[in-house]
Amino acid sequence: MTHAHITAWAVAILLFMIAVFQERKQAKTKIIHMILRLFYLLIIGTGAWMLHSIASIPALYVVKTIVGIWVIFAMEMILVRKKKGKSTNVFWLQFTVAFVLVLYLGLKLPLGFYIFS
Ligand code: HEM
Repeated sequence: MTHAHITAWAVAILLFMIAVFQERKQAKTKIIHMILRLFYLLIIGTGAWMLHSIASIPALYVVKTIVGIWVIFAMEMILVRKKKGKSTNVFWLQFTVAFVLVLYLGLKLPLGFYIFS
């Protein structure tokens, strides 16, 4: 499930970047955005599956989940606000902070790859 989770968020980030660049060119992003939303569900689904595999859920896992949802929230806000022509600076900042944090937490927690001790 770790690999499915990583694949899901890696594809989502890629789709998000494509949507951002398309939006800059004022091209249509509706379909990419719809597929991206499907990947949000896959990220949450695979994450929830991993949570399900552990007997009791330590606090750091709760933080990881919240920050993961925060990344998704920031991506969605950036795309929706871009479409409306509103400023996205605050959400880019949130996206960057949350993404770095979620990578750190994901790799620190013991399932799957374990880089930071
Ligand atoms: C875009 C959002 C997200 C990103 C970039 C992300 C990233 C990661 C990364 C890098 C790992 C480490 C994989 C490994 O150790 O091999 C991981 C593990 C995990 N993620 Fe996510 N994640 C996101 C969203 C979520 C969400 C929404 C949930 C909960 C529903 C979640 C739950 C988990 C769990 C339970 C693990 C296993 C932690 C462990 O290694 O012990 N993630 N994630």
